[in-house]
Amino acid sequence: MRLWQTHVLEDITLVRGAGCTVWDAAGKPYLDLLAGTWCNVLGYGHPRWVAAVQSQVGKLAHVGAAFSADEVEEALVKLREILPPALDRAVLLNTGSEAVELALKMARAATGADEVAVIEQGYYGATTYALALSEAGRAASYLPHLGHVLRLPVPMCRRCPMGLSWPCDGFPCLDALADAEPGHVVAVIYEPVLGAGGIIVPPPGYGTRLRDLATHCGALLIAEEVTTGMGRTGRWFAFEHDAIVPDILVIGKAIGAGLPVSAVVTTGEVEARCQGVLRHVQSHQNDPFSGRIAAAVVAILQEEGLVEQAAGHGAYLLDGLRELQSRCAWIWDVRGQGLMAGVELEPDRAAQGVTVRQRLLDSGFIVDYQPHTATLRLFPPYIIAAPEIDRFLTAFEETLFDVGKASPV
Ligand SMILES: Cc1ncc(COP(=O)(O)O)c(C=O)c1O
Repeated sequence: MRLWQTHVLEDITLVRGAGCTVWDAAGKPYLDLLAGTWCNVLGYGHPRWVAAVQSQVGKLAHVGAAFSADEVEEALVKLREILPPALDRAVLLNTGSEAVELALKMARAATGADEVAVIEQGYYGATTYALALSEAGRAASYLPHLGHVLRLPVPMCRRCPMGLSWPCDGFPCLDALADAEPGHVVAVIYEPVLGAGGIIVPPPGYGTRLRDLATHCGALLIAEEVTTGMGRTGRWFAFEHDAIVPDILVIGKAIGAGLPVSAVVTTGEVEARCQGVLRHVQSHQNDPFSGRIAAAVVAILQEEGLVEQAAGHGAYLLDGLRELQSRCAWIWDVRGQGLMAGVELEPDRAAQGVTVRQRLLDSGFIVDYQPHTATLRLFPPYIIAAPEIDRFLTAFEETLFDVGKASPV
């Protein structure tokens, strides 16, 4: 028996972690600027998170979908504290992908329509429907062919896919939605900052316009906050930057802080519209274990001021990257919000980004590089300290200038 590698794996075995650092089997430390797969927002081995996990496993992990548990109620109380009052119905699940699937099921059940509007370059998960809606699934032969998808141009104003320049008149990239016949579109699903698309931060007013247009065409607005939610962008939820309230909110990654917990949150109105139509049961739906972890993570983030810290240290990181950009001609763009940052290289340097990432890894810094967007991406734990950011910025600068000595390819 061997592991089937369905994606690329590093030839490194990690054996333990503490704070923002992980160590390999040979004892080499790495500063993890990705928080695992953007999940370990409390870093590794946060004592309060460990205590919550250990005590809950010993008490009650799973009870079966037919029973309720105090820990789930506890999670709902904590979620109430950080959400707008209208979003007061929730289901706890495990992964972001399945939460997206449930959100879309809810939208279909509530509206009875069948067209979904998505943003190009978006990513909504690895399950067949979510992936088929995502850019990453467009060419995959094994996915269902989705006929009714309205694909809206990505709001990347510096390289507008419509050839316009910002500020443009209104949001022409959303015109297809404005023109949609009322009653045809089930849902508009969007990531407030596109993570897999290369850390694309839409311009001010974009979320508000989406909110208005979703209402105009009778669709539900689904804020897909698997990556941006729970503090990543410096607010509890990224939709808050636009002062809007979605009809459905999808939460993943950070809410488990390293364990598989996700949630779909919606309004009483959506619940009422789904009454008698929607049925959804999964083995690990509303587990006491998930409830305990979610409640503990919210409490830790609140009591340790980590959302505010993500805002402050995120700005510090972005300032450092922009200062570097001012001295490095082959950085084309620096983008981000909170502790979610992207550094896009000039197109003729895109291949060298692979070397930059590898050299950083060799020097003990875990970052991500997407050759197809030429973007290095960073999603550090919220507990990252300023000296750790400085250490990364110094290593990044040295690596960039060293690799940059080679001519562009
Ligand atoms: C925006 C977004 N949605 C959905 C997912 C899927 O979440 P999961 O991998 O937990 O299923 C991801 C994962 O990276 C994501 O970034």
